[in-house]
Amino acid sequence: MPFSFQDFPAARDDLRADVLAGLVASPKAIPPKYFYDEAGCRLFEAICAQPEYALCRTEQALMAECLSDIAATVGAVDCIVEPGAGDCSKVRLLVDTLSPTRLVVMDIAGEPLAAAAQAVSRDYPDLDVAALAMDFLRDLEAAAPWLPAGRRLVYYPGSSIGNFAPDAASALLARFRHLAGADGRLLIGFDLKKDPQQLHAAYNDAAGVTAAFNLNLLARLNRELGADFDLGRFRHYAFYNPVAGRIEMHLVSLGEQDVHVAGQRFHFALGETLHTEHSYKFRRDEFSALAENAGWQLAGEWMRGGFAVQLYR
Ligand code: TRP
Repeated sequence: MPFSFQDFPAARDDLRADVLAGLVASPKAIPPKYFYDEAGCRLFEAICAQPEYALCRTEQALMAECLSDIAATVGAVDCIVEPGAGDCSKVRLLVDTLSPTRLVVMDIAGEPLAAAAQAVSRDYPDLDVAALAMDFLRDLEAAAPWLPAGRRLVYYPGSSIGNFAPDAASALLARFRHLAGADGRLLIGFDLKKDPQQLHAAYNDAAGVTAAFNLNLLARLNRELGADFDLGRFRHYAFYNPVAGRIEMHLVSLGEQDVHVAGQRFHFALGETLHTEHSYKFRRDEFSALAENAGWQLAGEWMRGGFAVQLYR
């Protein structure tokens, strides 16, 4: 079971600079990739189990149900590459069915990734697994030495593409073309536009797990940047904005307050927001236009329960 782990710490050392830049922006904002410390990873897995948040379950069911058709349309692949693989649970189904010789998984959360990828390596003795702990938004090109010749499939599930603004999403999809190579494929899952009440509920689960996930970002800054955010004085606030076609996730200041981060002072007015994430929702044709704009050609499509998976070449 060949297994390799490569750490790219340089690309992950930007927390301080990114947060300080975000706190002087207007509106204040923090890049969502910083949600995923250890507690954040666990909370994200808990979100996927909430009754209101059907996205992960729906995608899983769709993948399981359409797997043989998807595999037939994808054809033979030598390598599967998954940016943002997390606990590596989603890609297993594809490994089972497509039987690639190599799997390359990347994630900004290096320790959970290493453990998950090692488990995959144990379960698939013939598979060559490479785990790359990196911020793929910055360091994607550094993955090149781990990419074998032959046909590569880039797998990007979970509607993670929706967490980027359209311009950034299009740029990322274009970079995925290099990752996939000349004869490469892209299999991508995204959440469809649907009843806004249903979308609203998904990001406002009754158990408060999404709220805890959002607020955990402040706990992380307190711990890692010596910040003094009072978690009781910020409110998780998520809503669907139908004009922009996205869920917006905010942390709203419940009062006038000063916060110190990395030795600097920042003022929050009553009601001022710290924006933490967007989650864009798409119509199928909207998404294919975005991908085609990035140089991909639609080669297959599967939909179920308000979620879509598309294949590109
Ligand atoms: N990309 C998924 C989504 O936007 C998963 C996700 C990312 C998420 N960050 C989240 C879900 C925060 C809930 C809250 O839905």
